[in-house]
Amino acid sequence: MDGMTGRELFQSRQSLTYDDIIILPGHIDFAAQAVSLRTKLTREITLNTPLTSSPMDTVTEAEMAIQLALLGGLGFIHYNNTPEEQAAIVRRVKRFENGFITDPIVLGPHHKIRDVDAIRAAHGFSGIPITETGDLQGKLIGIVTNRDTDLEQNREIPLREVMTTALVTAPEGISLREANQILKESKKGKLPIVDRRGYLVSLVSRTDLLKNRDYPEASKSNQKQLMVGAALSTRPEDRERLEALVAAGVDVVVIDAAQGDSTFQAETIRHIKRNHKSVQVIGGNIVTQKQCAALIAAGADGVRIGMGPGSICITQETMAVGRGQAAAVYHSALAARDSGVPVVADGGIRDIGDVTKALALGAGTVMMGSMFAGTTEAPGEYFYKNGMRVKRYRGMASIEAMEQGGSKRYFADREQILVAQGVSGFVVDKGSVKNLVPYILQGLRHSFQDLGVRDVTSLHDALYGDSLLFELRTHSAQKEGGVHSLHSYEHPTLGKREREK
Ligand code: IMP
Repeated sequence: MDGMTGRELFQSRQSLTYDDIIILPGHIDFAAQAVSLRTKLTREITLNTPLTSSPMDTVTEAEMAIQLALLGGLGFIHYNNTPEEQAAIVRRVKRFENGFITDPIVLGPHHKIRDVDAIRAAHGFSGIPITETGDLQGKLIGIVTNRDTDLEQNREIPLREVMTTALVTAPEGISLREANQILKESKKGKLPIVDRRGYLVSLVSRTDLLKNRDYPEASKSNQKQLMVGAALSTRPEDRERLEALVAAGVDVVVIDAAQGDSTFQAETIRHIKRNHKSVQVIGGNIVTQKQCAALIAAGADGVRIGMGPGSICITQETMAVGRGQAAAVYHSALAARDSGVPVVADGGIRDIGDVTKALALGAGTVMMGSMFAGTTEAPGEYFYKNGMRVKRYRGMASIEAMEQGGSKRYFADREQILVAQGVSGFVVDKGSVKNLVPYILQGLRHSFQDLGVRDVTSLHDALYGDSLLFELRTHSAQKEGGVHSLHSYEHPTLGKREREK
């Protein structure tokens, strides 16, 4: 036999990981660009790309969720914060409109020129809208630009005395193209967008004009707002968090638990489905068929798979419980298949090939932490460590994160001694998700082409129809498949890292 079917591969009942397997090539009769990566995240949510980001406090806040959604993926906002803070992040993503600044810095007539100076020094921009109240969504009464203030010696003068009041504005609901046209004709630097009453809604900036690009693949809920997910725990207090998230417009919640097969989780899923029919619920994490069936029976719209494969994770070492991620994805996806509930392969993705393997084993989407950590959009500042530009990346069950509230995931929050199931570390600067994601997607298209499949559905059909063939990789096959015989090299996806052999 030339290769093994999925069924034969996992008959060995070994805790196989992505590295243990390889997929045999198929026949190519189409171009890589013909590959569609459209796939299901949950029963009701379809995405144009299979990439989601982990709800971790060093991975997903508004910037990550916005950029991923623009590129066709979806971000899950972490819950290492208050319900109000988490809901505010969700609201920021929902309010985002490409090209429109939906949370501009605003001042009031009573502010001084020195306040404008401070904003310029911190953010480098000029053209600040002035509203009656000094808040966004106050009545717009003027705008202060460089020309209003640059020749003024006294920086204590209130803005009401210097601001420009002859304003060019545009009404709410205007398209970006129309807004750009008005900016072109008026030759102004900023175009405030106001509602019917003249209250400020957002701003369009001339300097952003050239930077605007189209995002035809964007994940949008109603053709308008970007989609966003958020994490929730099974604790009773989190019912309030749920209400705040729903009020903010969250599209999908993920119940974030390291071991998802619990009475608490089943009860939480039932509670959400009973009270908020419009919100999709992803249950997890699980790694066996039995666990998966339990969450689906409770009403989950999606299931998240993974116990221990995360790059920052020491669950398998500490708890002796978990499963190799390839085996976990294959068995759980198989259990979910008949019910039509898609599964998310969460953790352990280190490169494009692991994404393909996860999808080839039955996952609809993947969830990634370390791949997105260290990007410009990940929370946290860059700093230098041993000459490398790095950002912090930590497990939500690292002592550091648990002390800040992340223990909700591990039934540990009321325990006095916190047992770590994760570590805290650093990842190298990977640049912006704007460049990283298109690179991953193009890689995936080529990988699908090598397999001879045009889309995710065909890939799953090939898996379950026994035409997709795998092989186990020996230790030396793994060595052979990686870079070898070099002194050092740069890894293309993972940043400019010199890997010493
Ligand atoms: P990565 O993509 O390999 O870095 O894995 C990210 C995933 O690890 C997350 O989506 C979580 O499921 C999981 N995770 C996050 N924090 C911890 C932790 O502290 N211990 C174990 N697993 C974690």
